[in-house]
Amino acid sequence: MIKSEIDRRVNGETKIMGVLGNPIEHSISPQIHNTISKLLCVNSIYVPFLCSQEDLEKAVNGLRALNIYGFNVTIPYKEKIISLLDECSEEVKLIGAANTVVNKKGRLIGYNTDGDGFATSFENSTNKSFVDKDIIVLGAGGAARATALKTAKMGAKTITLVNRTVIKAAEIADMINNNTSCKAVPVSNSDKNLAKLLEKSDIIINTTPVGMHPDTNKCPIQEDITFSSRQIVYDLIYNPSETLLLKKARKEGALTINGLGMLIYQATLAYEIINEIDIPEQILKKIFLSFTNFDK
Ligand code: ATR
Repeated sequence: MIKSEIDRRVNGETKIMGVLGNPIEHSISPQIHNTISKLLCVNSIYVPFLCSQEDLEKAVNGLRALNIYGFNVTIPYKEKIISLLDECSEEVKLIGAANTVVNKKGRLIGYNTDGDGFATSFENSTNKSFVDKDIIVLGAGGAARATALKTAKMGAKTITLVNRTVIKAAEIADMINNNTSCKAVPVSNSDKNLAKLLEKSDIIINTTPVGMHPDTNKCPIQEDITFSSRQIVYDLIYNPSETLLLKKARKEGALTINGLGMLIYQATLAYEIINEIDIPEQILKKIFLSFTNFDK
């Protein structure tokens, strides 16, 4: 018998999804989404869409015209995409950034799964909630907006936003104070009371790139600050898997978590929104285990 050489992975009914960004080569979203489709036997393919700044509008109209089922948006377009969409979730409006777009019969609707991805990863790793916690967020960019808003909505008592450019921290604090019952305060990263605030806090979240590969010898806080075993330190960085901040916190007894879980869960949540399905718990576990030990 002759073995068939026909590749049947893509056919006329295959749904197309993808991720729009620049650069895009580093993205593990294609692997995550295609693995979910394979495990769930969904007839879809997820591809990288590399797009220049000048071509963003044309690209988005092209994705709409080609009936692309849905797509993710990554650096540097999470903010710029909003003006090109037909509708946005409340969260996208508050965060000012979208990472997921669904194409509903030609209407492009934007969502943001970063906050939910962060919260799912946090809860799965700690079995703790944000209720009544004093939280410090280092940084005041898009990731800080998403994580701060989520923790505030999930019951945090206070959020202190620490940033080099304090005005950006103040803008996020205003957004939280105006939309949630959490009390948010901006603080400069050179504030003399910062050490005390950090030591008193329950949860510290680093959203700055300080300590990321290749600058692995950098730390977003002064190195004389001490941690304790009642604290949780979450670093959104996942390369390296243990930043200097996490290493120091772990050695002093804090529970530490890197950003790989957030990266995986923001993708699985995006998959659920785009495909309007709930991924079963055992598949989510499989995905998490595969990608926390992934070898690209
Ligand atoms: P993202 O969308 O991933 O959150 P971003 O919008 O570029 O990324 O935000 C990065 C955050 O890290 C910013 O708050 C930035 O501080 P500024 O607002 O002062 O620019 C912070 N950050 C980046 N590099 C930093 C550094 N070397 N030291 C301290 N903070 C830094």
